[in-house]
Amino acid sequence: MKILVTGGLGYIGSHTVVALNEAGYEVVIVDNLSNTSLEVLDGIEAICGIRPTFYQLDLRNKESVVALFQQEPEIVGVIHFAASKAVGESVENPLLYYENNLSSFIYLLQELVNRPKAHLIFSSSCTVYGQADQMPITEHAPIKTAESPYGNTKQIGEEILSDTVRVSKGLSAIALRYFNPIGAHSSARIGELPLGVPQNLVPFITQTAAGLRKELAVFGNDYPTPDGTCIRDYIHVVDLAEAHVAALDRLVNGKEEASFEVFNLGTGTGSSVLEVVQTFERVSGQSLPYRIAARREGDVIQAFADTTKVNTVLGWKAKRGLEEALFSAWAWERKLRNLG
Ligand code: NAD
Ligand code: WQD
Repeated sequence: MKILVTGGLGYIGSHTVVALNEAGYEVVIVDNLSNTSLEVLDGIEAICGIRPTFYQLDLRNKESVVALFQQEPEIVGVIHFAASKAVGESVENPLLYYENNLSSFIYLLQELVNRPKAHLIFSSSCTVYGQADQMPITEHAPIKTAESPYGNTKQIGEEILSDTVRVSKGLSAIALRYFNPIGAHSSARIGELPLGVPQNLVPFITQTAAGLRKELAVFGNDYPTPDGTCIRDYIHVVDLAEAHVAALDRLVNGKEEASFEVFNLGTGTGSSVLEVVQTFERVSGQSLPYRIAARREGDVIQAFADTTKVNTVLGWKAKRGLEEALFSAWAWERKLRNLG
């Protein structure tokens, strides 16, 4: 069964391509290489033993999207990762984000909406909940006004999808709201490739341990949490990738309860920034230089998932813990920097 993975050479996409291949799906990848490189395809080939079909194209170009589906008429499902994802950049350049994250998505949906049968999985984010009033966060928690244009593209994306599925006879879809994906494939052949200075915690930690950064700035230790630092639900990217296979299986096998469903993807466990630092030090055997800095604007105090729905309805559960995720992130960073 042929599955299109947009953004399939990106961080989560590449791990999902591997998981799809392991599950027996045939994968077609589309990526414009705006936030990755062709070497990721070599990494995928090294792990899977086959090189998936790859199209370098920009999904903002409608003609390219139309041509792609003409060339690949057997595509039955799409996992749509392609998007821009830097929160700060989206505040600086909102139109880039609205264009890239929404126009591409609309062109894809235009290809799927009138098909007798099609399946779509959409990369959403826990950012749609903002600072939720209750922990852990269930799928029923209210959607809060987005803190950034990036976050808004995820909220609008879900609405576009829900409206489209409602008028389509053949399209079924699942939006997956990721919490904080971290880590890398155990082979260290694929992982996260942040451009420039990493904005996210774990790549900043591994780059600091590798000597590329002087020290980690811990953004605030005066939050109302046990150790004063923010709490997040860090999920191993391979667990996340496997959840996409479970979601796709659900749609392909006609097991969905509604033509549009939403699931939280997290571990259910919250970890503070200092817990992440300490766990990293333990699994890497490295001591990590850090200092306490001012709070970062826009950070929520805590966010971790209620995983009841995804565990029971989708039948998926995260198998890997924080230690394994941080160990794999460190192995990937060492490989990237030839640190042996
Ligand atoms: P990523 O940047 O590594 O992957 C996205 C890929 O899409 C990149 O390879 C990029 O080159 C490609 N791309 C972007 N615009 C494109 C276009 N117009 N045409 C073709 N390809 C295009 O990001 P990721 O971390 O793998 O995230 C994947 C998805 O998950 C995104 O939609 C992101 O918003 C969402 N998400 C990510 C996180 C996270 O923390 N990483 C959390 C929640 C949701
Ligand atoms: C985690 C914690 C920081 C860096 C972001 C997006 C969100 C989602 C995932 C896509 C926070 C602290 C971080 C540093 C630090 N992406 N931190 N020093 O902010 O939970 O979520 O990525 O949808 O939309 O907002 O993740 O990794 O940036 O931060 O102290 O140098 O680490 O304050 O508490 P975040 P993060």
